[in-house]
Amino acid sequence: MGKVIDRYHAQVAAGELRPDPEQQAAAGRLDTLAGALEAAPARGGLLSRVLRKKAEPPRGIYMWGGVGRGKSMLMDLFFDCVDLPSKRRVHFHEFMLEVHDRLRVERSREHGDPIAPVAAALAEEARLLAFDEMVVNNTADAMILSRLFTALLTLGVTVVTTSNRPPRDLYKDGLNREHFLPFIALIEQKLDVITLNGPTDYRLERLGGFPTWYVPNGQASTDALSRAFFRLTDFPVEDRANVPSADIAVPGGRTLHVPKSLKGVAVFSFKRLCAEARGAPDYLAIARYYHTVIIVGIPIMGPDKRNEAARFKTLIDELYEHKVKLLAAADAEPMALYPDGDGAFEFERTVSRLMEMQSAEYLAQGHGET
Ligand SMILES: Nc1ncnc2c1ncn2[C@@H]1O[C@H](COP(=O)(O)OP(=O)(O)O)[C@@H](O)[C@H]1O
Ligand SMILES: [Mg+2]
Repeated sequence: MGKVIDRYHAQVAAGELRPDPEQQAAAGRLDTLAGALEAAPARGGLLSRVLRKKAEPPRGIYMWGGVGRGKSMLMDLFFDCVDLPSKRRVHFHEFMLEVHDRLRVERSREHGDPIAPVAAALAEEARLLAFDEMVVNNTADAMILSRLFTALLTLGVTVVTTSNRPPRDLYKDGLNREHFLPFIALIEQKLDVITLNGPTDYRLERLGGFPTWYVPNGQASTDALSRAFFRLTDFPVEDRANVPSADIAVPGGRTLHVPKSLKGVAVFSFKRLCAEARGAPDYLAIARYYHTVIIVGIPIMGPDKRNEAARFKTLIDELYEHKVKLLAAADAEPMALYPDGDGAFEFERTVSRLMEMQSAEYLAQGHGET
């Protein structure tokens, strides 16, 4: 038995995790993989040169199941434990943005197929690629994934990924899906597909029937939201001064500063999101990166706040469409936020979405599903 399964058992024994047979089985499989990766000879190392052939890389894992089943938790545990000099954990969406950037550079060189050199560079950088939240919902990704991953696996990269869907449902009903089917076949053939789909949505449990919309702004609301943040991220409250921040990439080459960013949960002030010159690309980036967003300081908006109201509406549309969970502190219930300015009629849809986003049905949905 190795580190992954030991740490999993230790957390169960400490009462941090409830015993869950499917999780335990998955932890066992990840444990075996960690051991195999550590035992495999380094590429280009003495042993692999003596053997004069490329050893098959350890077989990767595709772990799927509903939201809150512990996929990211197990992935983090595995990734932390595995002792490899060149390992990389990256959000799938961020990875694909990077791949497209690199392909663009290669294409401008006009050296034929751009995928081969990009895959070679990626393989050189990491023997283990761990993705969280594999979702395919755009044609540009769908069309290159099969060739990209075939190349990566051939070059000896081990892939571990999580997803809310089984492989056969990826890019479901997508355009030109026939070109995507080889990717599904590749995953089913080359990775171990395991399910983590037990009866308990642990995230929902941690949201625990607490309200998600707090009125009014002030200390009591801030305290409640801060408790929710620590519960959702398992971050030690004593260490509250050291919650990490992040700068996420926004299409178009800009970045967006996220004051608190941890385990897929982001905290923003309304001011930063809607009172500055921000727009749909920023909100789309947030909706893709984070499964839960906490917004504090939402004011009641008079007619002079039409720009703020319009941005807020765009923000909520993106969060809603990506099934992002929203926790917020505001000076009023949704229907009283923007009663009579320009566009107040269109804002009614925002109100209705904000109401729906508080429902148990909405909170139980998977992030990023469209
Ligand atoms: N067995 C468990 N007992 C208690 N909490 C758990 C258990 N498994 C996961 N959690 C917690 O539930 C939340 C959701 O888990 P997460 O790994 O983010 O789910 P997923 O990635 O499948 O959506 C996290 O806060 C996680 O620490
Ligand atoms: Mg997750």
